Parts: sequence; structure tokens; C-alpha cells
Amino acid sequence: MKFIEWTNDMSVGSDLLDGHHQMIIDCLNELHPLLDGKGSAGEVHAVLEKLEEFILMHFSEEEQVLKRSGYPDWEAHRALHNKMYDVVFALKSDVEHGRVLDAKHLFDLIYEWLLKHILGEDKKYMPYLSHPEAPQGVWTRSNGREC
Ligand SMILES: [Fe+2]
Ligand SMILES: [Fe+2]
Repeated sequence: MKFIEWTNDMSVGSDLLDGHHQMIIDCLNELHPLLDGKGSAGEVHAVLEKLEEFILMHFSEEEQVLKRSGYPDWEAHRALHNKMYDVVFALKSDVEHGRVLDAKHLFDLIYEWLLKHILGEDKKYMPYLSHPEAPQGVWTRSNGREC
């Protein structure tokens, strides 16, 4: 069983952005069995590097979509993304400095990401996605690297 299962109530109404969120969840599911010393530092670091790459791509595309869709709070949304990125970067740096990542830290990351961000903040932009200027992103589940 996966640590986090994607469910339709996580959808933000865009196949592209849902695909990004699913890739990020795949990374978290891959990371979970490696925590508490069950995986090597190298394995944990490799997943965190993919997670960092995915969120950078996703945040950048999501911000473009929000900006061009006329979403009024897109800059505040970008600031939240920057904070999330800092969390992932800090976890990666910790692993580089020999820290064993524990499950509580992953839970904190998931809580911020899933409950507060996708289910709260990301869902706020749903009404704007049908705007004619909303661009189509280019980074998709099919052309991105699988986690
Ligand atoms: Fe977001
Ligand atoms: Fe998002």
C-alpha cells in the first residue's frame, strides 16, 4: 500500500497540474520506506534531488498559469511556494550533512504540502483555470522523469 494515495478530491481541475501533484506524491511515496535509517543516505538524497527538481518545475509552471489566468493572489501563492522549496532544500542539505531523516520530518513536509497547500491554497485558483489566457504548461507526467 502506498503511503499517500491520490484521490479525486485532491484534483485542482487541471490534468496538467494534477499530474505534477501526482509526481510529487510519487516522490514522497518513494521516500517514505527509506526513512528512519531504512535507506542509505545516498538513496534518500537521490529522491530528495528528484523532489527538488519536480517542485521547481511545478511551481514555475503553476505560477505562470496563475499569473496569466488573472489569479489575483498569484504573488502570495509564489511566496508560499518559495517557503515550501526552502523546506525541501533544507531537508536535502541535512541529508548531505549526515542527518538521518526521520518519518516525522516527512510528515511535516506532507502536511504542509498536501493538506495546507494542494487542498487549501491550490484549490483557490480553480475558478481561474478556464480563463482564455491560461497557458498550457509543457512539463507533463508523460514527458517528465518518473519518480
Ligand atoms: Fe501551489
Ligand atoms: Fe501545486
